Order: sequence, then structure tokens, then C-alpha cells
Amino acid sequence: MDNTSFIEISETAFRNNVDYINSRLKAGTTLSHVVKGNAYGHGIEEYVPMAQRNGAKHFSVFDAHEAFRVKKVAPHADIMIMGMISESQLEWAIENEVSFYVFEVNRLVKAIEKAKKIGKKALIHLEIETGMNRSGLEELSWEIVFNLINTEKDFLEVVGFCTHYAGAETIGNHPRVLEQMQRFDAAKKTFQAAGIVAKKNHSACSAAFLRFPQSQQDLVRIGILQYGFWPSAETYLAVEHSLSQKPDPLHRLLSWKSTVMNVKKVKKGEYIGYGSSYMAAYDMQIAAVPVGYSHGFSRSLSNSGRALIHGERVAVVGVVNMNVMMLDITHIESVQAGDEVVLIGNQGDLSLSVSSFSEYSDQMNYELLTRLPLDIPRIISA
Ligand SMILES: Cc1ncc(COP(=O)(O)O)c(C=O)c1O
Repeated sequence: MDNTSFIEISETAFRNNVDYINSRLKAGTTLSHVVKGNAYGHGIEEYVPMAQRNGAKHFSVFDAHEAFRVKKVAPHADIMIMGMISESQLEWAIENEVSFYVFEVNRLVKAIEKAKKIGKKALIHLEIETGMNRSGLEELSWEIVFNLINTEKDFLEVVGFCTHYAGAETIGNHPRVLEQMQRFDAAKKTFQAAGIVAKKNHSACSAAFLRFPQSQQDLVRIGILQYGFWPSAETYLAVEHSLSQKPDPLHRLLSWKSTVMNVKKVKKGEYIGYGSSYMAAYDMQIAAVPVGYSHGFSRSLSNSGRALIHGERVAVVGVVNMNVMMLDITHIESVQAGDEVVLIGNQGDLSLSVSSFSEYSDQMNYELLTRLPLDIPRIISA
């Protein structure tokens, strides 16, 4: 059964962005595609096979459930869980050679226990606390970690040594990030002195990858860039030294489209939709579109959002409802039920980007993308 809207993902744009990332990637460094948050809203089940077709081999997710979804569509890919995995999911991960972060002693103990039970090594990444203060092994616990790893070598493989920076996309955070880098380096030396050498050191997300090439090390965890977005306008300016003089080297993959559900005339002086937030200032023509806040179109876009119809930009009028929004189409001729409505993406010469959209609603790219509901169909286009 058709949904009221669909999301189109451009494979060509993906290839373009990966080429851009590769042009800045140190030789020999692995590119891990971060596909947590349902591949930043692009849809794990559609995005991962498309990325694989174009050479992707390594995927990073937040939790075991996402890892399970990736494993189903990419059984031979490397999968890394950077966050949540419950005790009962540890067995599945070890059995299926899915690697996972260890950021507390208890997880390490449980991983060893499960690995012994299954008779297979747990593939672990030691996440080090360097100043993000979210998760990460604190120095106080290192001695216990050294002992456990050194005595249980038969049941563990330290595939990664890693950390995460606390806001590399903002210049104001850079002193903190630089301090984190120093702590990470020092920690690596301490672990190496204790006989623990990981296969891959990794710390860079998109912003660190671009702003601090020295953070690239053996693997980079790239999320937002591969989808065609800059981590921040600041990062774009600093890296490309331009705001609009030259074309953006990144291309967005995602378009979000629906259709007109109903067209009606509204007399000057009448209110439109719930309440009295919008009064027709002239005789108007309105298109109802079957997308509302339950579909991820934020209620905060009431009376301020935009969409494209017949190649023209139109305004959201009235309050965004649970399933419907209304657009002012007074100035457009012959709009009919069934006509295409673009919520994000291009139509004719115009384009509506997630960033402009998120400016209206105060949502960051990251948030808007990942809130696009799971059940909107994702369609890969050339
Ligand atoms: C641990 C970790 N690594 C990498 C990333 C990817 O970040 P970005 O999308 O900015 O590349 C994230 C995302 O928040 C993360 O939490």
C-alpha cells in the first residue's frame, strides 16, 4: 500500500560524496560509513546495499538492533557498534563477528564470559575517555582492563582503540578537541606499554576528519558528510573557503516528496486550519498535503515552512496538523489533487534543502534527518 509521501535517495550523489571524502582521506585509512539513526533517516535497508554496491565495506551503528538490521542486508560487511549492546545481545554480536565498543569494565567482563561460552573471540574497540564525558574507559579502570585483556587473550581481539571528540564542528570547541587528541595519544602509549596494541586507532567524525587531518589515523567514522551535508557552516567555510562563489562539492542524497490531496478556495477574512493563527488576507487557494507532524514535518513549521509545487516555492499556512498541512497556492494556476509536492529536494529550477528547512524549524540537519519516520518508503534513484 502506498504511503502518503516517499523519500528518494540519489546513488549518483552518494558516489560524488564518497569521491570527495576519498580525495581527503589518508592512504590506507578505512572509511567507516556511520549509518546509525536509520542511516541518518536515509533508511538502513536501502542505504547499506546501495553503499556496498559502490564499494563500502565498513559500517558503524549505535546499537545492536541497528547492527542486526545492517547484518541482514550486508552479511559480509564489517559492522561496529559504538554504543548500546545489552548482555543478551553480546552473544549475538560475538557469534556474528560484529565488533563493539567497550567503555566500562563490566562490559569487558561480560564479553569475556560470553566469548568463553561460545568459543569465539569477542571483537572489541576500547573506547577511551578523553574529555567528551559520555562514555569511555576512565584512567582509574585501565589497570583492571590491562589485566583482563592480557590474561584473556584467547577470548578477545582488540580490533580498535578509539575516542570521540566533543564538537569538532565548532571553532569554540577546538581547544577542548586538541586536548582530547593529546590525551588520546598519551592513552595509546600507556596501553601499548602494557602490551595492548589495537589493529586500528580511530577518533575522527566528519568535522574532525576535515579540520584535523592528523585525527584520521587507521579508520574514520563518517556520518553526515556521506549524506551530502556539512557538519556546520563553519566547517564548510574553513574547508572550502567559500560560501556561495563555487558549487558545493557535496551533493544531497535525499529528496522527500508527496502529492496534493485536495484543493480548495478560501474567502478573504476566513481562518485556515485549527485555531486562528492564519487568516486569509485575500481570496486564496489552498492545497492540502497528506503530510503532518506524525510524518516528521515539524509542527514548528506552522505558518513558516515551505514546499515546492509546479516548480514554485509555496508557504505553509496555518498550523501543521498530525497528518496534513496546508499550502498557499493562490498564485499558481491549475494545481490539482495528485500533483507532486516537494518537501525537501528539487523541482524545476528550485531547491528546498534540509538546511533551509531546519533553519525554519530550529532543527539541525542531524535531527531533522533522523526524525524522518521509519515507515516512509525509501527509493533509490540513479
Ligand atoms: C562515536 C561517533 N562517531 C562518529 C559519528 C559521526 O559523526 P558525523 O555525522 O558528524 O560524521 C558519531 C555521530 O554522532 C558518533 O557518535
